[in-house]
Amino acid sequence: MRLLALLDGTLADPDAPLVRVDDLGLLRGDGIFETILAVDGKPRELGPHLDRLARSAAMLDMPEPDRAAFERAVRVVLDNWTGGAEVALKAVLTRGIEGGDGTPTGFVMGMEISAKALAQRAEGLAAVTLERGIEPGLAERAPWLLLGAKSLSYAVNMAALREAERRGAAEVVFTTSSGSVLEGPTSTLIAARGRTLTTPPSTLGILPGTTQAALFQAAERAGWTVEVEPIAVDDLYTADGVFLASSVRKITRVHTLDGKSLPDSTALHTTLTTLYESHY
Ligand SMILES: Cc1ncc(COP(=O)(O)O)c(C=O)c1O
Repeated sequence: MRLLALLDGTLADPDAPLVRVDDLGLLRGDGIFETILAVDGKPRELGPHLDRLARSAAMLDMPEPDRAAFERAVRVVLDNWTGGAEVALKAVLTRGIEGGDGTPTGFVMGMEISAKALAQRAEGLAAVTLERGIEPGLAERAPWLLLGAKSLSYAVNMAALREAERRGAAEVVFTTSSGSVLEGPTSTLIAARGRTLTTPPSTLGILPGTTQAALFQAAERAGWTVEVEPIAVDDLYTADGVFLASSVRKITRVHTLDGKSLPDSTALHTTLTTLYESHY
């Protein structure tokens, strides 16, 4: 099932043409998006997602997104949804048409969770490390690179996933050339050691994850230590568990990295998933 809501609060046919061919989102990937998980009709981390959408808009010098319109479109999709208990809500805002008056194109589309994401949640996955060409300090030195903005320009991220598939893996852990861990193409990396969870800082030029933040809040309440610190790639091999977190995939276990098996983190995965779910 798919449902499409426009920012005026109306439903539209997701199979009918909607976006003009001269839309800058289409022509240049010039726009921003968020993917929000809803469970049993309730969106998760809607506030943080819309905060991040506004932050991305500011980084791209786009007008501030109409928060109330996005909240209404999310509501319209969820109120009309008759599919599965979980919905992936894609909120999109482009710069509008080329040479136009700057009115953005925006919508929220509700989709079922893919079978692949569900399988990876349950079984874990193999990942490879790939260089991203980002060095510490670059995000601040070169804001035009939009590091840490959730822009529509995901072609590089998708190319990295195809490279992972060529190497027999399903996912990617992006790294700096000096061997520091960044993030996945659509996920945040979390390493666990004892009762400490660590994720790399967004100041490295990566997206601050809403799922990671939710898990860290729940973990901290349960007495875990949570750290936002650089992680060396080598440390991933000795961690008790390595996880990729995102709204749609929730907490997914990495069982193999660059062809090497990581320590069995099945029980830890269950613990972290329980902690994450306890947040809702
Ligand atoms: C590059 C990148 N990092 C991290 C994430 C995880 O973010 P969230 O947990 O807010 O979904 C995403 C989400 O798609 C992403 O695209």
